[in-house]
Amino acid sequence: MCGIVGYLGFRNAEPIIIKGLRRLEYRGYDSSGIATVANGGLQVVKCQGKVQDLVDKIDGSLAESGIGIGHTRWATHGVPNDVNAHPHVSASGKLVLIHNGIIENYASIKEALQSRGVEFKSDTDTEVLVNLIDDIRTVEGVNLAKAVRMALNQVIGAYAICVYEIDNPTKIVVAKKGSPLVVGIGENEFFIASDATPFLEYTKTAIYLEDDEMAVVELGEEVKVRSIPNNKAINPYVHQLQMDIEAIEKGGYDHFMLKEIYEQPKSLRDALRGRLLADQGIIKMSGIFEYREKLVNADRILIIGCGTSWHAGLVAEYLFEDLARIPVEVEYASEFRYRNPVITEKDVVIAISQSGETADTLAAIKLAKERGATIFGVCNVVGSSIARESDAGAYTHAGPEIGVASTKAFTTQVAVLSLMAIQIAYEKGLLKESYYYQLLAELDAVPDKIEKMLESDSKAKYISSLFKDAPNFLYLGRGFNFPVALEGALKLKEISYIHAEGYPAAEMKHGPIALIDENMPVVVIAPKSGQYEKIVSNIQEVKARNGKVIAVVSKGDKEIAAMADHVIEIEESMEVFSPLLTTIPLQLLSYHIAVMRECNVDQPRNLAKSVTVE
Ligand code: M6R
Repeated sequence: MCGIVGYLGFRNAEPIIIKGLRRLEYRGYDSSGIATVANGGLQVVKCQGKVQDLVDKIDGSLAESGIGIGHTRWATHGVPNDVNAHPHVSASGKLVLIHNGIIENYASIKEALQSRGVEFKSDTDTEVLVNLIDDIRTVEGVNLAKAVRMALNQVIGAYAICVYEIDNPTKIVVAKKGSPLVVGIGENEFFIASDATPFLEYTKTAIYLEDDEMAVVELGEEVKVRSIPNNKAINPYVHQLQMDIEAIEKGGYDHFMLKEIYEQPKSLRDALRGRLLADQGIIKMSGIFEYREKLVNADRILIIGCGTSWHAGLVAEYLFEDLARIPVEVEYASEFRYRNPVITEKDVVIAISQSGETADTLAAIKLAKERGATIFGVCNVVGSSIARESDAGAYTHAGPEIGVASTKAFTTQVAVLSLMAIQIAYEKGLLKESYYYQLLAELDAVPDKIEKMLESDSKAKYISSLFKDAPNFLYLGRGFNFPVALEGALKLKEISYIHAEGYPAAEMKHGPIALIDENMPVVVIAPKSGQYEKIVSNIQEVKARNGKVIAVVSKGDKEIAAMADHVIEIEESMEVFSPLLTTIPLQLLSYHIAVMRECNVDQPRNLAKSVTVE
């Protein structure tokens, strides 16, 4: 993980870097730092903590500079402290570097450098890399770009780096493998970042480096991109970005997470727009249906993801099996890739990822591809590594999701997967015309229903105030809503630090029921559609042991209201789409509990938005 930012041009780099770091802070916030050059000398400030701690530490001390690099860290090698914070300066004091990724063979390189007298200050792999580059530069007598290329051909691992010579502050060398890196091109100025958000107000022209590419960014010159393995010149594709600055600001909400919860009607409409033509009875997904034969004839579908994206995959398992009658296996990417899975050319793999950069998911699809499977990517971030690595795919169009807890990413993933499942089922002749039309109309109505549900969150807020101090929570759901129980528990855990577990409701009596007493809040997802009578029995079982039941029910449900301690009503829908609705109150519940516990909602401890390490 980690966020990197660089600037080279005619403006003062410091405010650009600081603003950029704030926008990339979602990528890691263990420490941050900045390095600029003024009056021939390097100015480095770095410290443990958030970007605000860095700003406090700088306290106006930096002289203006037209070059700068900055970093916000999610610690891998070395604890989060001031010394391990980036940027790292080489022992000679000649080079300064920032890095997002992991250098796996850093220990052997460090030993070799130490044996030649290089002294290290930090425990990081990054300090090893900057010294390796500097060592090659001096011993071989080559320029910085060549030294970077030679060094990167020696290292094993993943990286996005920015490095410059303190004595030559007109040039920054950048390189990428496995971690994202984009170069923004303005008029006589350049921006470098992990994603485009740090420079959107300055330029929308950008080059996304591919893996194994490096670039020399130099004042007065065009960006020169070359291949790291063979030094071939590359003509990069220059993107014109569509993203707006408003999309990455809080827009009056207290937190990004709350904004993103409330954006769901819009993001779902964006996900469905042009694809779901309910009144004409058409689903159009050109990216996917190029490979429709593969999907229609698939003997099985493998779905791969991590965290919330894995939960969306579980919902898709119910959708594809129920509607399209295709066997589905849903796998954690991190397990799939290491267990020598049986994959054949007949397999279809759907990779789900908000960021499109999750290292395990990326590695899993590379493995599946090598073994002949066809890969469909369901990603949010346009141009991301997983999207590019996939044979075909559909973007979720959720818009930038900045809160570390996924909200709108989940519902848009489920919406896109719903479209895929319905269309495949229809093409296989498994849906009666009237049912097909009903499915389309119901899916089309979901954004309006969510909008209605979001008109008030007072119930979720009130219930949160009652249970905010509970040390544990159980979440129960059945069928399509079992993955929602897992998702609800994950949301609560990650932002409020309350231990929570999601379970299939019927599984409770095989163990977790032992936990239930008058202190255990149990959130039961119990819409009218689905296995309603069965879940009513499960609620009775909890009540019989004095558990406190918070039930998510369909509007007007009197039966569960009479037995539960608290109910939150949702709009009625078909069972297949109920996860899109039931998940909303669970997002609100965890949000309000986290706020009431004074947790950092958007940047929960130990987490980062984009997990680009294995
Ligand atoms: O970007 P991805 O969807 O691949 O990320 C996967 C997980 O890291 C992510 O969903 C994580 O679990 C979220 N913090 C959940 O809210």
